[in-house]
Amino acid sequence: MRGKEVSSSKSSAEPPACAGCTHADRPASLGILASGHGSNMEAIAEACARGELAAKVSVVISDKKEAYVLERAKRRGIPHYFVDYSLYPNRRSYEEKVLDILHAHGVQYIVLAGYMRVVGEVLLQAYPQRILNIHPSLLPAFPGLSAIRKAYEYGVQITGVTVHFVDEGVDTGPILQQEVVPIGLEDSLESLEKKVHEVEHRLYKKALALLISGRVEIYGRKIRFKN
Ligand code: GRF
Repeated sequence: MRGKEVSSSKSSAEPPACAGCTHADRPASLGILASGHGSNMEAIAEACARGELAAKVSVVISDKKEAYVLERAKRRGIPHYFVDYSLYPNRRSYEEKVLDILHAHGVQYIVLAGYMRVVGEVLLQAYPQRILNIHPSLLPAFPGLSAIRKAYEYGVQITGVTVHFVDEGVDTGPILQQEVVPIGLEDSLESLEKKVHEVEHRLYKKALALLISGRVEIYGRKIRFKN
């Protein structure tokens, strides 16, 4: 693992000159924030490696030291960092550290992939309309934790996956992509989880391709595509 973060000192890294731009000749630079298993990070990195997505995972940052996503990043040779929230007095200073790392790696877009923290104003202001999250339900149904379990236990017959822009709320930002996952009578929680994760891995790539195309515009809660 590169750099267990133990200090709140800030680097003098400047924002990347190309932040917010898209380049036909250069892959978009993604910074992935994740707290857990990392299967979405892996799917995105694999899509980049296969040329299915005109992007590169420039860095992976986790707030959990033991998160398996860090091991996955290491195996792929992706720069990866554990940033220990407990070392910082508040969310602002923690996010300033995260932002330094993102800038140092030229990140244009932040991708939340199982990141278990609410994003604050430091990151929101640095990356306006350039932070995506994936959630394992058809929002606005079942926001927050354990969404697959909640949908299963509620008895809904369709659930799904949502990729949305991140705002100051929890799973509340404008929706970029959704896909339905039917829940059959034969489904167990485990089989439903498997189906949802399969859709996630496909849908996040699709949503990222749209975002980095530069064609997505947000107006109010809705999106539209520029020609
Ligand atoms: C996914 O279900 C995602 O929708 C949710 O957290 C989970 C992360 O899974 N936000 P993984 O760490 O990418 O395997």
